[in-house]
This record gives sequence, structure tokens and C-alpha cells, in this order.
Amino acid sequence: MNRTAQEFRDLYGRPPEGVWAAPGRVNLIGEHTDYNDGFALPFALPQRTEVAAARRTDRRLGLHSADVPSGVVTLDLTDLDPDRTPRGPAGWTAYPAGVVWALLEAGLPVGGVDLHVRSDVPAGAGLSSSAALEVATALALTELYGIPLRGPELAALARRAENAYVGVPCGVMDQTASACATEGHALRLDTRSLEQRHIPFDCAASGLRLLVLDTRVKHDLADGAYAERRTSCHRAADALGLPALRDLPYADLPEALSRLADPIGRRRVRHVVTENERVRRVEEELRAGRLRAVGPLLTEGHASLRDDYEVSCPELDLAVATANAAGAYGARMTGGGFGGSALALIDADAETEITRAVVGAFTAAGFTPPHVSRAVPSAGAGRIV
Ligand code: GLA
Repeated sequence: MNRTAQEFRDLYGRPPEGVWAAPGRVNLIGEHTDYNDGFALPFALPQRTEVAAARRTDRRLGLHSADVPSGVVTLDLTDLDPDRTPRGPAGWTAYPAGVVWALLEAGLPVGGVDLHVRSDVPAGAGLSSSAALEVATALALTELYGIPLRGPELAALARRAENAYVGVPCGVMDQTASACATEGHALRLDTRSLEQRHIPFDCAASGLRLLVLDTRVKHDLADGAYAERRTSCHRAADALGLPALRDLPYADLPEALSRLADPIGRRRVRHVVTENERVRRVEEELRAGRLRAVGPLLTEGHASLRDDYEVSCPELDLAVATANAAGAYGARMTGGGFGGSALALIDADAETEITRAVVGAFTAAGFTPPHVSRAVPSAGAGRIV
């Protein structure tokens, strides 16, 4: 029997009605573009969050995680209110509680449910463990209560939970990647129209590999810097008379920059506009089967996030610089930044050497050694039991 299902049975004294899983993600390119109505190119990781669930006959919510030592937390559905102070459940339980709240807020007919969660998506590593938990919970609840929300709609609901209930003003990339990605593909997402293109992305076939270098510097997107970036982008779009920075064509960038007085605003705009252009170019290289040519675009993206957007940190910069110096085709931080993980595109047979170089550089700098894993584009969320 599936381990999460077995644990559910031991905990609640009855079998779950099913087990649902949703993956973490890596964003190949297109960072800090999603709240500017722009483009992103994430893919799903093999690491996933599993949620075993069964309906209850009352209107209560049972929450338990194999990864957090505590008993079952029980909440009343009528107590789920993001405007309450304190907001109610803190820590990890805010994510599933927020999803149930978002379903109720949307007027959808959900009732009580018991949940048990088990995840191998590392938390705080910039790999979207929160989106994985939200999407797996949303999928479990909607299937159990016969609510026909799938794919992008499910992602929108999960994002609503994170924005309004957890209080993180994220865009829709992470939840969409977790809900909609497909095995062997990167997901080219237009965050305005929500159009999706599934682009074949098979590194192994080209003798390549993607490494995830988790710096183990924990980031916290709720800490204000993310919200501040978002506000300065919206302010710059207003100053330029545009609905969003997505509406500034790459070719018009120099002229637009000359119209912005604020030097910080200018740098933020330059990042977003050049990053949207990099998504376009990476998509083009992938479609042409020129995977190695993606590398320099990743490194360019990192420089832009480091210098113009100022969301990197010394550990991410060291991971990227060392991987590149040791022979990677390119590397960049992935996710919101301020810690978390970097991604490196390498020759498959250079893995040992590049890993050794990065770990060595971290040790020499007095940093905690990074956790290194391989990223393989994997399937999005679904029912597994
Ligand atoms: C976090 C957010 C996303 C996105 C990225 C940056 O992962 O959750 O919505 O904004 O940062 O690209």
C-alpha cells in the first residue's frame, strides 16, 4: 500500500478515499515576470507532495503532516477567515486551510475532510513546496466533492489561497507549473492569457543534465522584499502608461528607460523586459533542439536578477559562478530568490566534477554545503491512489 495512505489509516483509523500528488517546480527562465503579466518557462520536478484524504460527515478539517512533528490539528470550516487576527492556523497548516477557505469563498460545495500530507519537496528551497501542497490539497478536495475544477482553474484557486489566506503576494507560475506541467516538457506560460505551450525538453537525449544546487539559504517570500519588487514594477508600468510591463516591447526598452526618472525603477523594468525576451529566445532554442544554446541565456538571466532586480544572494552567485567556471553551459538562480536554489545546465558526464567544484567553493567560503540533485521534467498533479 502507498505509504501516505497507510499512515492516514494509522492516524485516523480508516482508509483514505484517495491519495493525490502535486510536484514542486524549477523555473527554467522567466523570473519575476508572472506578476507583470509576462512569460515564464517552468517545469515540474519529480519531487512531490502527497495528500491522502477522506471526507468527514461534519464541517471540520483534520490536518496532519508526516514532515512536521505534531498531532492532528482540527479546525472548524466556519473559523477559516483570513481577516481574523491572529489569522488562525500558522505554519504549514495555513496552506491547506487556505485552499479550503478559497473553495468556500468561491461558493463551491466543500465539506469536512481529513488530510494527511507527506512531501519530498524541500521547503524554502525555491522549489515551490507551498504550491505543491496547495495544488495537491485543491485536487483532493475538488475530486472528493465532485467539483469540476482542473488545470489552470485549480492553479488560480491555489494562488488565491496563498495570496489572500497565507498572505504571500505571489503570481500564478508556481501553482500552474504544479497543476499543469507534463512529463518531458517545459511549460511556456503566458501569465496574462494563461495560454500554455508544452515544449519538449529532453536533456538526456542531448547528453545533458540539469542540476539543482540548493544553497540551503532559506528565503521567505512574505518578508516584504518580494512585495516591494512587485510594487515598483506596477508603479513603473503606471508611469509609462502601460497596463503592465508585459506591454513594453523589447525594442522599445531604451526609449522607455529614458522616460523613467527613478534609477531603481529603470533597473527593475530592464530586468522584466529583457527576461520576457529571454523566455522567447529559450523557447526558440528548445524548439530548434539547440539545448546547449540555452545555457548562456540562463547566465544572462542570472546577471539581470543579481544586478538589475537585486534578488540574488552571495551563495546563489557563488553557485552560478562556480558551476560556469567548472564547465556548465549556463546557470541561474531559480524562483523568487534571496536564497533557495540555482539551476545549472551541464554535460551529463561533468556532474561529478561540477558538483565537487561547487561544494568545494562553498566550503572554502565558509557556507553550508549545497544540496545537489538532478532535475528531470516530470508530470504535473494527479491522483495516485
Ligand atoms: C515566487 C512566486 C512566483 C514568481 C517567482 C519569481 O516563486 O511564487 O509567483 O513570482 O517567485 O519568478
